[in-house]
Order: sequence, then structure tokens, then C-alpha cells
Amino acid sequence: MHRSHTCGELRLEHAGQTVTLSGWVQRSRDLGGMTFVDLRDRFGLTQLAFNMDTDEGLCLKARKLGREFVIKATGLVVERESKNANMPTGEIEIEVRQLEVLNASKTPPFTIEDSTDGGDDLRMQFRYLDLRRKPVQNNLMLRHRLSIETRKYLDSIEFIEVETPYLIKSTPEGARDFVVPSRMNPGQFYALPQSPQTFKQLLMVSGFDRYYQIVKCFRDEDLRADRQPEFTQIDCEMAFVEQEDILNTFEGLVRHLFQVVLNHEIGDFPRMTYDEAMRRYGSDKPDVRFGMEFQDFAPVAQGKGFGVFDAAEAVLGIVAPGCGEYTRKQLDALTDWVKRPQIGAKGLVYCKVNEDGSTKSSVDKFFDDAARAEWVQASGAQPGDLILMLSGDLEKTRKQLNELRLHMGSALGLRDPKVFRPLWVVDFPLLEWDEETERYHAMHHPFTSPKPEHFDLIETDPGAVRANAYDMVINGVEIGGGSIRIHDRGIQSRMFDLLGFTPEEAEAQFGFLMSAFTYGAPPHGGLALGFDRLCSLFGGSDSIRDFIAFPKNNSGRDVMIDAPSPIDDAQYAELYLRSTAPDEN
Ligand code: AMO
Repeated sequence: MHRSHTCGELRLEHAGQTVTLSGWVQRSRDLGGMTFVDLRDRFGLTQLAFNMDTDEGLCLKARKLGREFVIKATGLVVERESKNANMPTGEIEIEVRQLEVLNASKTPPFTIEDSTDGGDDLRMQFRYLDLRRKPVQNNLMLRHRLSIETRKYLDSIEFIEVETPYLIKSTPEGARDFVVPSRMNPGQFYALPQSPQTFKQLLMVSGFDRYYQIVKCFRDEDLRADRQPEFTQIDCEMAFVEQEDILNTFEGLVRHLFQVVLNHEIGDFPRMTYDEAMRRYGSDKPDVRFGMEFQDFAPVAQGKGFGVFDAAEAVLGIVAPGCGEYTRKQLDALTDWVKRPQIGAKGLVYCKVNEDGSTKSSVDKFFDDAARAEWVQASGAQPGDLILMLSGDLEKTRKQLNELRLHMGSALGLRDPKVFRPLWVVDFPLLEWDEETERYHAMHHPFTSPKPEHFDLIETDPGAVRANAYDMVINGVEIGGGSIRIHDRGIQSRMFDLLGFTPEEAEAQFGFLMSAFTYGAPPHGGLALGFDRLCSLFGGSDSIRDFIAFPKNNSGRDVMIDAPSPIDDAQYAELYLRSTAPDEN
């Protein structure tokens, strides 16, 4: 028998029992007459005690144990003299009678403690050791709980989980595909799904009515803290529904998850149109935990002789509460911050509102007291506040000011990870214009339905068409997105046409879907929640990597297994791919 109990289980009521525990040596302390070892497994820590007086040989053996040795110890549960209230097992210890080393361990490259001395790269290289740490284990347990509760909830409302294939044909979701060569079909490739989008729509045509899948998706795109090349979605689709049904259903799911996993009653999910979100926050995923909404300063700041503002399409600003006392140094630092290439602003105009109501700005040369008083009035700034303004092209200025707003929100401690503010952003544009290719792209994906009342606009003003598409946003994170789909073959063809597909290309890529639409496709729609993002939101972290057992780094590499890696020439040949052998290059 390796163990009678786990390392997290024993309490005072077990005193007097003889038990066997197995686990890893977390640390040991040698106090001369006594040696103490903290033994760890997934369930917790238990203190083992070895006494020189009772068994010198055993005590000497214990002293030789290194960190991360795997051992088995049998002994008596006794009440501790000095109890540790911070440990669930802190009232007892084990007086060890037998000790067996099951496996030795090299000294690990970093400490296996809640806060470790290991840097990111080292921890990724030895991820299996990093996964021994409690905080990382807790993250994966949270992930497990969320997936179990998701399945329970969706099952309870008649959703069924259906697996869709991973070796498919490209589905355009806006990113690049990962492709897989087919040995049996020389020169041909599968694509890994960016999402199961077309399959779930086909399942609606097949009559499954309510589908879900907790599913891996693959996208070859630039990586960030909230993006991995392979990630997981809670992917869902429903037939015979309108947008409202979908929003209510998934609000229900997320509300349930907050309740059962965090014991948190999440508030309402207000709806905000895309246009309003862009106007008020300059972002389609606004963080509404705090105010600092955008103010349009153009009417009170243009036409006063300040060339930068006068030439700008937009003059936008925010009011940072209580920042009127910022020093010159702080203001210079903010200016440098917005000028960094990642933000790209040309400059920052500020205006302090002093406690006596007077103002001082960085552009006093162009704006006298009366002009600045108009800014204060227009923006509702209070004494002690700081007005921050950016100007330029509307779209860019919105983006930059959004970054500045989030930066100030963080600096002022207004983005508490324990506060959750959800919302639905609705009425997304159907299409977005791509300057590079000079054509429209689907903003969500090509299967999204325009709002029926906008059908006519498709011909006259495609950029103005709004879609029945929505995103779930919580704390400024896009947790999920979806849409009502086109289920009419004619409209779907028109959409492909608008996106620049010739009828032949549309047929070659999506003939199967268009054909399905001719066999009684029901009205349908759905959404996908980013499961990794949901986990990191629940866990209070910005990085989804912490919630993925074996994540990739920012270059898309798994540094532990060293992938991707070259393949040998035989594999190239077998797959009918060009060999990289030097003489063939
Ligand atoms: P979308 O592309 O919006 O929609 O993806 C849905 C959600 O998946 C998450 N997500 C990601 N998470 C981590 N890493 C990534 N690289 C990544 N990309 C996306 C986001 C996002 O909101 N087929 C549609 C859904 C539908 O219309 O039903 C789709 O995939 O949280």
C-alpha cells in the first residue's frame, strides 16, 4: 500500500491512528534532536517528524532526503506542540516509524513553492515541475471545475456535445490556418479548424437543435497574453432562435458559472451597440468597471488657432479624477507613454483643474482661461481633476485614447480583478474595409447575417450594414462572440460575392454548406466563449497561459518538448513535400 490518506487529509481527530503517506519532499528542517519534513501531494502538505532519541537511524535517513525526493512514510498521527493555523493539517504531525525512498530527485532548477524563484522561460522548459506548484495546480483545478459545470449546465438545458473533426478544410475566421499535409493525397493539405463554425451549422441543418463542444481551435496569428495558437472554445449553436434567445441562454450559463464556481452573483448584462461602445470608450470591448468615458472636445477646442487640433478629424479626451496634482515629471511620463510606438500618439495635451477652479494646460499659448473653462464645463471635470486629450484621425485617436484610458484606470486602481462587469456589445458592422487588399472583409465571419432591415444597404452602402452579431465582454476582455447566421443560399452567395469570392471560388470552398442550405436549413445562430479567457478571468489573471497545462510561448514554441522542429528527409519524401536537404535547396 502506498498510502492510507492524502497529504491534505489528516486532522486532530485522526490522532492515535497509524497512517501511510506518499508524496514529494517540499522542504526539511534539521533541528538537531528533531528533523521535520513537509510532505506534499496534490491535496496538501503534512509535517513528518523524526526524533533522534527514538530512532537515530531513521532520523539520519530523513536528513539525507533532498527536495522533491518521492517518499513513503508510515507513522503515528500526533497532536503538534506548536500548531500552524495557516495549514489545514497544521494541528497534527506524523511521528514516522518507517521511511522508504521511492525515488530520488535532482535538485530542481527552481523552488517548488507558491512563489518561486524560477523565471518564465525556465518554468516553461520544466513545465512538469512548475505544474507541481500549488497556484498552478489551483488554476488547472479551476479550469476543470469550469468545464464540468459548463457541461452540467448545458446538458440540463438539452444541449448535446458533438465532436467535430480536426482535419478539415480551411474555415475563414480571419487568421491564418495551420495546415497538415496528406500522405494519402499527394500535394493536398488539411487545415486545422480555426473553429468548428461550418460543422456546427451543418449540425443545425441535421436537426440537432442545440449543440455544444468544448473544443480545441487553431489559429496561426501573432500571440499575446490572451492569445494562444491552440486554444479552447465552449462552442455552441442553436436552431429556431433569435438573437435574444442566444444572449439569454449564455448569460444564464455565465451567471451559473459565477454562482457555483466563485459563489458570486454577477450583475446585469447590459447591452451596448458597437457604435456606442466605440463612441464612449473607443473600443468594442470596453472595460466598464470604471468611468472616464470619452469626451468630444472638438466643439470647444477647434477653431482657436491651435493647428494640431484644427487639422484633426477628432479631438477626444478623458477626465482622470483626482490627477490634477500630477507633477511635471508624471505628465512627461504620460506623454512619453502615449508616444511609444505601441500606442503611436503624436503628443498629449493636458489641462489641470486646480482646487480653486482655475486651470493650467500644456497649450495655454492657444487657449486662454475662458477657453479652458469651456473644456471644464463641456467635460464636467471637477477641481482636482486632470483632462487628457488626443487628436488626429478618428479611428486612430479612439484606439490611442482607449489605451490611455485603460492605463489610467490601472494606475488609479480602478480595475479590480475581483469586480466583474459584464456586457453584451451588439450590432457589429457586417463588414470592415481592408486598406491593404482594398476590399471588404467579414468582421465576424462570412456566415453572419446582416440585420434584415439592412438588406437593402448591402447594395448601396455595404460599410453601414449592421449584423446580428454580438460579443460578450467582461472587464474589458472579449470572452465570447457569435451571431445569427445566414440560412438562405441566395443571401449566402451574395455575401461571398461581397467578400470578393468568384462563384467558382465560393463553390470550391463552401459548396458543401451552400448545398446543405438547399435541404431545409432552419434559422440558427450561436456563439463561442473563449474557455481559456474565461478561466483567466475567473482566476483573476491577465494571462491565459497560466490556465493551460502545456502552453506555447510568444513565438508559438513549446520549449519543453522543443516544437516545432524539423522533420527528416524521409518524412518530407513520404508527404511529397520539398526536402530541405542542402543539395536540393
Ligand atoms: P471568435 O473568433 O470570436 O468566434 O472566437 C470566439 C472566442 O474565442 C476566444 N479566442 C481566443 N482565445 C485564445 N486564443 C486565441 N487565439 C483566440 N481567438 C479567439 C475569444 C473569442 O471571443 N466561430 C465563431 C463563434 C461563432 O460565431 O459562434 C468564433 O470562433 O474569447
